[in-house]
Amino acid sequence: MATRVVIGTQWGDEGKGKYIDMLARTSDVVVRFSGGNNAGHTIVVNGEKYALHLIPSGILHEGKTCIIGNGVVVDPAVLLDEMKQLNERGISTERLFVSDRAHVIMPYHRVLDELQEKFRGKDSIGTTKRGIGPCYCDKADRSGIRMCDLVDEEVFIAKTRDNLKIKNLLIEKVYGGQRLDEEQIISEYLEYGRKLKKYVTDVNAVIFDAIEQDKEILFEGAQATLLDLDFGTYPFVTSSNPIAGGVCVGAGIGPVYINEVYGVLKAYTSRVGAGPFPTEQDNEIGDKIRELGWEYGTTTGRPRRCGWLDLVMIRYAARINGLTGLAINHVDTIGKLPKVKLCVAYKKDGQEITSFPCSLKELAKCEPVYEEFDGWDTDISNVRNYNDLPDNAKKYLKRIEELVGVKIKMIGVGKDREQTIIV
Ligand code: GDP
Ligand code: IMO
Ligand code: MG
Repeated sequence: MATRVVIGTQWGDEGKGKYIDMLARTSDVVVRFSGGNNAGHTIVVNGEKYALHLIPSGILHEGKTCIIGNGVVVDPAVLLDEMKQLNERGISTERLFVSDRAHVIMPYHRVLDELQEKFRGKDSIGTTKRGIGPCYCDKADRSGIRMCDLVDEEVFIAKTRDNLKIKNLLIEKVYGGQRLDEEQIISEYLEYGRKLKKYVTDVNAVIFDAIEQDKEILFEGAQATLLDLDFGTYPFVTSSNPIAGGVCVGAGIGPVYINEVYGVLKAYTSRVGAGPFPTEQDNEIGDKIRELGWEYGTTTGRPRRCGWLDLVMIRYAARINGLTGLAINHVDTIGKLPKVKLCVAYKKDGQEITSFPCSLKELAKCEPVYEEFDGWDTDISNVRNYNDLPDNAKKYLKRIEELVGVKIKMIGVGKDREQTIIV
């Protein structure tokens, strides 16, 4: 048996989907354990593009069991739509299971996400407005509605009526929004429940059976370490725990069952949404990286903020997640710049530090300390062997490995899942 976890080491969009799809080939079960449809995972197969938000990226491989775990928040309309779109492209969703314990994103979660962001004004987080935060709030508040409730008409109606009493007051009286129609929500969601019923089950039992049968299980991370509710750049984070530890809670397995943890990173850094970003290049360099790497959000289409690779962050991510390997993407992209910078430490109050500060006030004082490398302006998108990479690229990658202390196991040289060097 081998269980592997793939997680993001930066602020998301590192290219996790591509590796998950690749590793799914040799897996029996693929499990999402956190987040919701705030995620956007792009997979390119033979030039054809797929953008998945909720369904595990393993779905593109026939016969693999795909699981949405209890730690995920599920927008049923999005789930059904994603299933439909896959079916229309000839991909079966018959091997998909959704945890009965996963929480349901309700219309008032989406509305409140929007209203709260508006209320925050200049301090807004820049959420995806998919209702993720408000849904996790209700989970912690113990007023949430779970998938097992959605498929039980009586329970669903009672819980929705209860919730709407307070949610409509909040929407109308606190935020000045428009109250939601109870009957419409109930009839719409009961229909979703009927359609999804056969997929909703105790997935924890399915996962544990797979463990007992020595099957290969892949846990698909969404979001990333610096967006983690506990370890990210709080409050500019998401509302779940996308780190490797989130697997135990979000899928219901003991830590002893995790064998490998792969951390995905880009050869530079990107961030979508607000919050600190020490190596950001809000200038021509950032614009160039954005254009070369086509850094526009898969979920919201927003231009991503771009900057140099920050190894203070990656070292921190290696520690928090217990990384056993690195997978680095966009090595083709960054090499097109004549000079490539690598942040190896921060300078704060006249001193060099190598740890990632918790306080945003302290983080704001940090100046990146850079090492500079020559680019490798040759087309490497067809390289499949490490030895065939240009020397300048190898120097850059070696230095990353050295400073993070974790081996690079996969190198991305293009969008397609085949454009990968296995080291
Ligand atoms: P995820 O959310 O971590 O799965 O990543 P996204 O799909 O949101 O963003 C990654 C983007 O980079 C997508 O557009 C991918 O197609 C693209 N991509 C991934 N790896 C590579 C790579 O090695 N080279 C290039 N040029 N593009 C890549
Ligand atoms: P993948 O899986 C990049 C960011 C949002 C915002 C913050 C909070 O594709 O890497 P939320 O809607 O979660 O309450 O927003 O988190 N965010 C992501 N950024 N990639 C993601 O997912 C993200 N999921 C959430 O932009 O800054
Ligand atoms: Mg993404």
